[in-house]
Amino acid sequence: MKNGLEDVIAAETQLSDVDGEAGRLIIRGVSLDHLVLTQTYESVAALLLDGLTEKHFDGNQLRPKLGQARESVFAHVAAADAALLALPPVDAVRALIARLADGEDFDTALQLMAAPAVFLPAILRLQAGGQALEPDPSLTHSADILRMLTGVRPSAEQVAALDAYLVTISDHGLNASTFASRVIASTRAGLTSSVLAAISALKGPLHGGAPGPVLDMFDEIDCEENAHAWLGNALDRGERLMGFGHRIYRVRDPRADALKGALKPLIATGQVDSRRIALAETVEQAAIAILRERKPDRPLDVNVEFYTALLLDALGFPREAFTGVFAIGRTVGWIAHAREQALNGRLIRPRSVYVGPLPQAA
Ligand code: ACO
Repeated sequence: MKNGLEDVIAAETQLSDVDGEAGRLIIRGVSLDHLVLTQTYESVAALLLDGLTEKHFDGNQLRPKLGQARESVFAHVAAADAALLALPPVDAVRALIARLADGEDFDTALQLMAAPAVFLPAILRLQAGGQALEPDPSLTHSADILRMLTGVRPSAEQVAALDAYLVTISDHGLNASTFASRVIASTRAGLTSSVLAAISALKGPLHGGAPGPVLDMFDEIDCEENAHAWLGNALDRGERLMGFGHRIYRVRDPRADALKGALKPLIATGQVDSRRIALAETVEQAAIAILRERKPDRPLDVNVEFYTALLLDALGFPREAFTGVFAIGRTVGWIAHAREQALNGRLIRPRSVYVGPLPQAA
């Protein structure tokens, strides 16, 4: 028995590879550092889905189809009643996605990719007492998400930063939410069911729920001089430092640097609070040093969630919505894995070791 299935190989995939020793992520044969500098979200989505649905297309062809899908799912926003809007944003998004029909075809995949991108900004605006904004299919996915969130046309740097984020998190091996998606797909339940299971796995703080608490940490630390003492006290209380550590990476998470790079144009054009960036850099260095001291046997470095927090905050997403933005980017990876599993895999059905009492002899 391997607790947490650590090192257990449970699937063969052509989608992505996480090399934890080298700190490298490959998506469909291309290294993330190259992908993030050269590709749009739509082109990476097309790359991930290539050969896994009944239709073939590239990023340019996908863009208008995704725009139409955003328009078509918007009708479901009308179902957001007071009870749904009282939920945390990621739960409200999940509840609206549950209204979509299940299926395994390309159109279902498109609707699922469009759904969180439309539902999250709409829910945030409704929760703030405003009106949901209809999608604009002429825009790129990233530009439209930001416009639906803020109501104004985003800057080129903001669109590029969100696009880099969506590319960076589009797929990442057999993480917990992707595994959940594949388990559901192995029963042939359909893509909507896979995505719902995956979102449910993602929202936990050990997976995609960490970046909100990263910002809370910055707020509590407040100034660079407090960083070392605050981090030491948190570890003394037995807490984990959010945005650090990973099951696979034994070195720096390459996605952290991809996102750090994506922040640079925003910093250079004054679209980020530079004080917060300086504080984050101090916290990062202090945390790495203190974790090395306290956990000498376990290499713990920064993970994707640390820079996710800075980037999404800079783009105007409230912290309680960060997990929902993660879901927007990862949905295409969940769908691609679900299709791969349905096309090539068997029903996933592991066994357990029974350690409970045995029946009494009569
Ligand atoms: N802060 C302090 N100690 C840590 C941290 C951390 N962030 N991460 C791991 N450790 C310690 C554990 O306490 C444990 O120490 P021990 O052996 O003395 O008890 C040791 O390192 C190993 O920890 P595990 O729980 O076995 O590591 P695992 O591979 O299961 O955990 C995880 C990976 C969940 C990401 C963990 O590092 C963590 O909780 N990090 C903080 C939350 C976070 O940032 N999550 C986002 C991950 S990225 C993503 O999913 C998109």
